[in-house]
Amino acid sequence: MQPHIPYILPLNVPSELSYVGEDDSEYFTEVYGRRVNSMNKRYMLPADADEIRRSELHHRMIQFLFAGKNYVGPVKEILTGGPRKSKVLDLGTGGGHWAIDMADEFPHSEVIGVDLAPIQPRKVPVNCTFELCDLDQWHLPYPNEYFDVIHARSMHTGIKNYPRLLIEIARMLRPGGLVILIEPDTEPIVDGKFASQIARSGHASGMSGWVTLWREYRRCLKAKGIDLSAPSRLRKLIQATSAFGKVISQQADIPIGFWPKDDVNLTIGQLAWLDYDLLLPAMRPLLLSNGKHESEVKTLVENAHHDLYYPIVNPSTRLHVVHAIKRS
Ligand SMILES: C[S@@+](CC[C@H](N)C(=O)[O-])C[C@H]1O[C@@H](n2cnc3c(N)ncnc32)[C@H](O)[C@@H]1O
Repeated sequence: MQPHIPYILPLNVPSELSYVGEDDSEYFTEVYGRRVNSMNKRYMLPADADEIRRSELHHRMIQFLFAGKNYVGPVKEILTGGPRKSKVLDLGTGGGHWAIDMADEFPHSEVIGVDLAPIQPRKVPVNCTFELCDLDQWHLPYPNEYFDVIHARSMHTGIKNYPRLLIEIARMLRPGGLVILIEPDTEPIVDGKFASQIARSGHASGMSGWVTLWREYRRCLKAKGIDLSAPSRLRKLIQATSAFGKVISQQADIPIGFWPKDDVNLTIGQLAWLDYDLLLPAMRPLLLSNGKHESEVKTLVENAHHDLYYPIVNPSTRLHVVHAIKRS
């Protein structure tokens, strides 16, 4: 780790990215008692200390899922051995944990993490930089074929036009470059079944507080124009760009809580439990700004917390993981 590295601008694209100095208050605003980003009003999960903690838990949980690795696909082969310094882009970098780990693992690569809010640490490896940019725009401020690897994880709820983002990813990747997309479903799974399936069959889920909060959260995201089917359609959406060869798609049901019997899944479940414990109250700004009453939101969050703390069934969530190489 090196001393203070400021947020900097990449070459050639000075106007659309922001430089963050000592005072970064202009990049934040307060919504119902939580600090959120001020750049994109659609994305309402907080950008504060609790959310940074949650971002790290999320990162460590996925590392466990990937058996200690930060990625799927031929990242090592793509980033090492080439004639020029390779470049990695992390979209919606959050607390920047993935970007920092990648910069440490690949000291000869340049890693750029981009987000709506400057919530990343200022002390980072010399080959890691953070930049501010709303990724939900028609054109992103990076040159064609600039990156070797582009990674986007758990950020579809801030992107209205996900197909457009994929077209931009294809443009910014060099031929032979790798895209990795990882997105969790927002529909809860209970005892191995989607909550909507259970409701259709007329049975009780055993987690009505949990399921109700997620239903309301999804309603609010839909009202903001977010396509909630994007995670489960990642493969199709990438194929639709026509820029990639074979798309490799995987999915994993992430246990939430202490119910798994084997050590690895138990660790994943514990990290997911801690992540969701912080996520439930983090939904408040979105729910309240969609017109829900304070007391209604309090009850929604309390009931969901109750189900998380005292489950009588086994909750999980589905994670979609896709990677593909850009055609030469
Ligand atoms: C749930 S966090 C995930 C952080 C990190 N990718 C991870 O997996 O640990 C989502 C991040 O995506 C960022 N994000 C969401 N929509 C965005 C947008 N339109 N432009 C840039 N960043 C966005 C948010 O600010 C937030 O930091």
